[in-house]
Amino acid sequence: MSLRLGDIAPNFQAQTTAGDIDFYEYLGDGWGVLFSHPADYTPVCTTELGKTALLQEEFAKRNVKVLALSVDPLDKHKGWVNDINETQNVNVGFPIIADQDKSIANAYGMIHPNASETFTVRSLFVIGPDKKVKLMITYPASTGRNFYEVLRVIDSLQLTANYSVATPADWQEGQDVIVVTSVSTEDAIKKFPKGVNVVKPYLRYTPQPNK
Ligand code: BEZ
Repeated sequence: MSLRLGDIAPNFQAQTTAGDIDFYEYLGDGWGVLFSHPADYTPVCTTELGKTALLQEEFAKRNVKVLALSVDPLDKHKGWVNDINETQNVNVGFPIIADQDKSIANAYGMIHPNASETFTVRSLFVIGPDKKVKLMITYPASTGRNFYEVLRVIDSLQLTANYSVATPADWQEGQDVIVVTSVSTEDAIKKFPKGVNVVKPYLRYTPQPNK
């Protein structure tokens, strides 16, 4: 059975470009992003890891630790990191897991045999401090992911974990949010002193409460 939202993310021990790690120990009490790519020394993957490296500070600001994974061996990862740093003008500072026996890829359902028998697809998991899966996305090998979207979802996840709100389509940090339907309008007015705009009884907006 593959992982689903709300499931506990499996722990694992792994060899990485930053040394051997225990996943849970590495995450500590913070958030995690674990993402797979099909193979080292491939063009789209090079840009994806470059973009992630460029956004390292943005992930750190949100208390998110990032880990990449492919089924290629460690020495190949290490050589490829030099290429990523050179061509993307970055300094990859996050671990890349060498999952040669595919044990992590299998535990997380990162191999989709009808897409490729051997390589991981572009899977990405956001894991919360409770070690539960908060977001899962899957892209094909031919399409690089949008890491600003990953940050946007993390902003939403961290906000909605702490307030009785949800975020509307295309929401960006700082924009109005939606009051969850389990909160009555009367209670919402008390909870959200910046104001509640009632468009419909089920559609109520309030300014982002933590801004
Ligand atoms: C790439 O990263 O460019 C790539 C990897 C595997 C298959 C196709 C493209």
